[in-house]
Amino acid sequence: MTLNTPIDMHLHLREGEMLKTVLPYSAKQFAAAVIMPNLVPPVDNKNRLIDYKEEIVQNSDNFTPLMNVFMKEFDEEELLKLKDEIFAVKLYPAGITTNSEGGVKSIEKIYSVLEMMSELNIPLSVHGETNGFVLDREREFIDIYKKLAKDFPNLKIIMEHIGTSEMLYLLDEYENLYTTVTLHHLLLTLDEVVGGMLNPHYFCKPIIKTPKDRDEIQKFVKKGHKKIMFGSDSAPHSIKNKLKGAAGIFSAPVILPALAEFFEGDLETFQKFVSDNARENFNINVPEKKVELIEEEWTAPYIVGNIKPMFAGKKFKFKVL
Ligand code: DOR
Ligand code: ZN
Repeated sequence: MTLNTPIDMHLHLREGEMLKTVLPYSAKQFAAAVIMPNLVPPVDNKNRLIDYKEEIVQNSDNFTPLMNVFMKEFDEEELLKLKDEIFAVKLYPAGITTNSEGGVKSIEKIYSVLEMMSELNIPLSVHGETNGFVLDREREFIDIYKKLAKDFPNLKIIMEHIGTSEMLYLLDEYENLYTTVTLHHLLLTLDEVVGGMLNPHYFCKPIIKTPKDRDEIQKFVKKGHKKIMFGSDSAPHSIKNKLKGAAGIFSAPVILPALAEFFEGDLETFQKFVSDNARENFNINVPEKKVELIEEEWTAPYIVGNIKPMFAGKKFKFKVL
């Protein structure tokens, strides 16, 4: 199986040693990735963004980072300076997930930024959760997505890492809404987190939900829905921090072998999900890169540095060459 120019539309690489440890896994499997800005301090200005991009470029070959900047109350001058350097602006509601304390406290406060983004054709990427009951947080955010989609009809909005099936139906209701789906929300349920022995390594935000949610997400992805794009949300934390409760799943090492099994040889839909949908929806132009998978048993790594990857030790039918 050969994939043409796979793109991961949602990736956390961190910085420094951690970046050096995790980046090779994404650079091997993907031509490009959208890089999330929730660092400490956040990537919320041009200088920081350029430096961070440079760090990624220096530590990879043949891999294009598409940079996201952390949402704040930008003025027009700042946004104009950022425009050619970024893929999107990422909106984190304040305190909703890892390193989001400096996020948005009230959506109204960024309406002028959204207006400018709409005019400048800069997409909005959203972590769509309220601070309500953990299993309802995404569902409660649906009304906010609807309001944003209506108030800014020319703004392309990405509902990131959806885990709640109702959100899938917004895609056909609102022309300007798109979504990313992760490997874990596609394949797992809450049972994998708390159904047997507690598994902190599968704890993430938004939390993985019910079999019904997973099955509906699978159905839409298998159908090849054009507005659904793969975004891993691979989010590495050291084992020590995971055991203290950090949210995030390090899925990068196993993505393409796991997806190859999921698509069961339907290369056409696989290709759309990991590349074509994103390239067409967002006019992404990155250097072409072919990634080959062969049918040969492959075992996912048990450990990568001080991080435990998703599906550690699991055997797969396909291997990335
Ligand atoms: O589980 C998550 N981990 N969800 C997020 O939104 C952030 C991410 C991280 O950066 O660790
Ligand atoms: Zn994320």
